[in-house]
Amino acid sequence: MNETLVDSTFRQDVLTGLTAPHKYLLSKYFYDAKGDALFQQIMRCPEYYLTRAEAEILVLQSTQILQRCMDVPQPFDIVELGAGDGSKTIFLLKEALRLNHSQRYYPIDISPDILSYLEQTLGPKLPGMQITSLAGEYFARLEQLQLTSNQPKLVLFLGATIGNMLPDEALLFFKKLKTYLRAGDHLLVGFDLKKNPQTILNAYNDAGGLTKAFNLNLLHRINRELGADFNPDQFTHYPVYDPLTGSCKSYLISRCAQQVTFDPDTVIRFDWDEPIYMEVSQKYSLGEIHQLALQAGFEQVDAFFDCRHQFTDVLWRVG
Ligand SMILES: C[S@@+](CC[C@H](N)C(=O)[O-])C[C@H]1O[C@@H](n2cnc3c(N)ncnc32)[C@H](O)[C@@H]1O
Repeated sequence: MNETLVDSTFRQDVLTGLTAPHKYLLSKYFYDAKGDALFQQIMRCPEYYLTRAEAEILVLQSTQILQRCMDVPQPFDIVELGAGDGSKTIFLLKEALRLNHSQRYYPIDISPDILSYLEQTLGPKLPGMQITSLAGEYFARLEQLQLTSNQPKLVLFLGATIGNMLPDEALLFFKKLKTYLRAGDHLLVGFDLKKNPQTILNAYNDAGGLTKAFNLNLLHRINRELGADFNPDQFTHYPVYDPLTGSCKSYLISRCAQQVTFDPDTVIRFDWDEPIYMEVSQKYSLGEIHQLALQAGFEQVDAFFDCRHQFTDVLWRVG
């Protein structure tokens, strides 16, 4: 997509969300250069246990994960959806090289900035691994990849990014993803598990205010790229976790009655205390994950856990 088309899709998505009966913004737009940097800081903050838990899995269990994929008799391409900075994936990639299972890695991400960071940081540490970054949306880039390579695939979807979809959306996503895969391909998905509600809520409400800044950054991005005049100080970050549904939802709450102008013909009004729904971070039980695999048409091969059982990377296979 060219830049004008990207801008017009961004504008259209933002205005559709802000004129809906319940205002919302799409979390995929969090990741501009500043959003990428904030997310990297979130991954290191004490409350955000997810990254440490998944890193532990990949540091300690990459060999087993890769061995479980080896019913495929030939080397496979490793494709990563929403790769981010690849700082956890590197452990799996190093092991894949050492075991001679894979020499081609295709990180896909909507943020071109984070992909150049990934190439610069991972490239020198992975001699022998051919890294081909694909900037854009998941399925558009998978389509492009289909034209490039017909090797068997191990697709990674780490970091609980799947949690940014509600369970029904996740099911549709996996069904669609399966249409890009062939019998014998594998999928490794990171799910955050249901646990103490306060532990979960704290992860999205860190004391250092990083998650707050990450959410408010989208208003700054809209101002900069779409010419709006949001005053981010007039919005409060408000995360809630419902232990019954497993949905942790983040909102920005308007601190007063106010209006935001995009251009003279496009003015969005906010009531005092009106919410903008920003993001869901869905938590799962093991039973729900297994059910999701079955409904989407995958076989669950194995599940890998950190020592506290806070997080799981599940390995699914296309039968
Ligand atoms: C929660 S972060 C996780 C990053 C990394 N997988 C990790 O575990 O640290 C989500 C990543 O997915 C990317 N992303 C979000 N929506 C996307 C989309 N629709 N298509 C492609 N990438 C997307 C973001 O840019 C971001 O790097």
